[in-house]
Formats: sequence, C-alpha cells, structure tokens
Amino acid sequence: MESPFDHVTLAVDGKPGDARSLSLPVERGTLGNPCIDIARLPKETGCFTYDPGFTATAACKSAITYIDGDAGVLLYRGYPIEQLAKQSSFLEVAYLLMHGELPSGDAFHAFENEVTHHTMMHEAFRTFLYGFRHDAHPMAMLVGMLGSMASFYHNTLDLEDPEQRRLAAVRLIAKVPTIAAGCYRYSIGWPLRYPKNNLEYVDRFLHMMFEVPSEPLAMKPVAARALDLLFILHADHEQNASTSTVRLVGSTGSNPYACVAAGVAALWGPAHGGANEAVLKMLADIGKPGNVQSAIDRAKDKESGFRLMGFGHRVYKNFDPRAKIIREMTHQVLGELGVNDPLLEVALTLEEAALKDDYFIQRKLYPNVDFYSGIIYKALGIPTEMFTVMFAIARTAGWMAHWLEQQMDPEARIGRPRQIYTGYGERGYVGIGDR
Ligand code: ACO
Repeated sequence: MESPFDHVTLAVDGKPGDARSLSLPVERGTLGNPCIDIARLPKETGCFTYDPGFTATAACKSAITYIDGDAGVLLYRGYPIEQLAKQSSFLEVAYLLMHGELPSGDAFHAFENEVTHHTMMHEAFRTFLYGFRHDAHPMAMLVGMLGSMASFYHNTLDLEDPEQRRLAAVRLIAKVPTIAAGCYRYSIGWPLRYPKNNLEYVDRFLHMMFEVPSEPLAMKPVAARALDLLFILHADHEQNASTSTVRLVGSTGSNPYACVAAGVAALWGPAHGGANEAVLKMLADIGKPGNVQSAIDRAKDKESGFRLMGFGHRVYKNFDPRAKIIREMTHQVLGELGVNDPLLEVALTLEEAALKDDYFIQRKLYPNVDFYSGIIYKALGIPTEMFTVMFAIARTAGWMAHWLEQQMDPEARIGRPRQIYTGYGERGYVGIGDR
C-alpha cells in the first residue's frame, strides 16, 4: 500500500506549556500497510502502547508470506496461493517457504530425498506414545510427542550453526506425519506402521494412517491429491497465533522442537486451527439445511456464546482465498471418491444464508480456510479429532520457515510485551490470624 508519509508526529500533552511533539519514523515493507516504529516511545514519553490481541502491531519483519485481507490475497514468497495450489506440491512449497525460492529439479530431488530419509522415529518414541491414555486427544499427544523430540535432539544441537538449524527444520517436516499417524493408530489400537521410502510425502502419510497388516491399501489417487492441496493451503499464514507462538518461544533461544510443540498447542484452540474440528461438529449439530436459519440467529445473539465456526478472520475482511479453493475442490473430491455427504449441503446452505445476512455483511465475516476442509478430511476417512493434526502437519513447514528466518534476523530480540497493571498498589502483609 502506498503511503505518502514517512513520519507521524505524536503530540504529547502535559501541563500548560509542557506540550511537546515526538516524530516517529514510518517503516514500509515491499507490500502492505506502513508501520509506525514506536521503539523510542517508552524512553521519550514513559508510555507503552496498548493493543490487546495485537490487532495493530507488527512484531517482526518477514519476507515469507503476504496477506492482503481486504483484497483476499495470499502470497507465499510472492507466489499467489492459487498458482501454487494448481501447479506445485506441498513439499515444493515447504522448500519455497524455507529457502525463499522455488527449487531447481536437482535441489527439489535432494530435498525430497533428505525429507524421506528423516521420516523414521527413534524406537523409544513408542514408549512415549504408549504412555498416553487410550482416549487421549491426538492434539494432546502431538504436543507431548513433539516436546519429547527436544530431548532426543538437544545436547548436540548448536543453534549458531545454520546447517544444524536447517536440519532441525527438515527433521520436523519429515517426522511430523510419522508422529501424527502414530497418534491416530495408537488411539484406535492399530499397530504402528513405519514410513515407506518408496512413497511420496502425502502418500506415505496416508499409508502410515490407513494401511493394515492384513491387506494392501487401496486409496484412490484423488485422496493424496486432495490432501497435498490442503497441506499447501495450510502451510503458512504469516504471523498467526501459532506462528507468533513459535517465534515467541524461539526468541528465547529455545530448542526448535519445543518451539513447534508450543505452536501446536496454540493451533489447537477453536479460535485458530481447532476450528476445522469445531466446524464439522457444528454442521453435524445443525443436521439439515432446514435448521440453518436458527443456527444463524444463534450466532448473531451475543448472549448465546455461539459463533459460526469457520467464519470470520482477523485479517481477511473478504473471501479467504484458501476457502474459495477448498470450496471448489470439495465437490470434485467428493464426486471422485463417490461420497455423498449431507453435511456438504448444510455447509453450502449455511454459507449462502450467512453471506446474505446483514450481521455477517456489516462485520465482513466470510468463510475461512476451515469451513470446508473438514468435509474433505471426513471424505478421506480422517476422523474429526485428527483434523487439527492435519493442519499441524502442513503448518510445520511455515513454523520452521519463520523460526529459521527469526534465527537470522539481526533485529530479533526476546519477545517481551508490557501490560497495564490494574491490581492493588503496594500494601502490607497481614498475618493469617488477622485476616
Ligand atoms: N460468528 C458470529 N459472529 C462473529 C464470528 C462468527 N464466527 N466471528 C466474529 N464475529 C463477530 C464478533 O462477535 C464481533 O462482533 P461485534 O463487533 O458486534 O462485537 C465481530 O464479529 C468481530 O469479531 P472479533 O472476535 O472481534 O474478531 P477477531 O478478529 O478477534 O476474531 C476469529 C477472529 C477468532 C477468527 C473470529 O472470527 C472467530 O471466532 N471465528 C470462528 C472461529 C474460526 O473459524 N476460527 C478459525 C480462524 S482461521 C484459522 O485460524 C485457521
């Protein structure tokens, strides 16, 4: 966005005659809103800024992903998401996010080969996995399993070494599907499958999820294509809550596996990645198109505490471009898989009704990436509780790209927000008998 100014002046009003002004520089990236650099503010005025939810705050400079929320634009390293969705693959996108450029044929082959050869887990991971309760939520298991990875790769990890940092990113991208499939199989009591090197990334994951020892796995090619596309769409989204969490933890110099475990925890909530699971539950509760209007009415009623899951976004005040792609894909995938899911009709009716409703129009609430993704996951045979895990597999590529970028950023400092303190002023301790 073009900005005609390079400074803003802040008038600091004090007692009469005490007024003064402070000129603050405006930083501009290659695209996007200009940002007022307020770093001098505390020193010069004694004030901090107050911005709950960071709605107006840029926490870092980043060259990875750009979103124009008003226009519904999403670029990874400059490439429009629509082009990547049509022409690329998840692993190529992971390379692009990490390295900044699309790989040559040789570079891609080397990357794919490296990822493939890091998919195995240390056998001791089984002990961790088998320690979970049989009904543990797979996201809880994923947080724990990724956290435990830090214990396997900590003592020898030198974060000053770019090659070791890169290898940590490759390991995570390679092993997250193995762990995710392991969590699923443990939860249903199936024996774990080892990753097969002769398969590509997404096929290998589907194999680890669904293959049973007694018969060969027969999955239609559309399943892997659809999952690969969903992974591309979920791979990164600039400074969202989970990525910001990875960066915040990363800012302390923490172990990268622990950073990603923290990112998974942040992703889990229904306001973020957990929305895909919540959408499917909501659609099932609505049950049929005839019940859509009462769901819309409930979402508009603030007293109800109910929101339309998969609707609204902090940044997009227009169609989420990912939702558009997934919506188109849903019909095709369900058709090719021969699945007739009545929830799709509920979703379409709900979308249409919400987009016509003044409440949603005025607040610019559109379907987000999670509105349709669950219907596809369901058609692929992935259970609802695993939906956010799917998101985490894909987002690991983005998290690691951001973590790598942060480790190289000369301006990076420990993330440490301030507060407006609203508690008591100083008071004296009262002994327990006198309270
Ligand atoms: N249903 C009903 N009303 C909504 C919804 C919704 N899904 N989303 C926002 N609103 C309303 C709010 O009540 C608020 O109304 P008000 O102005 O009258 O108070 C207004 O729209 C603005 O909403 P905020 O909560 O202030 O917006 P914020 O940017 O903080 O939240 C969020 C964004 C969390 C995504 C929100 O829209 C939401 O809860 N959506 C449902 C959950 C969801 O789908 N999350 C996935 C997001 S995408 C992702 O992370 C992958």
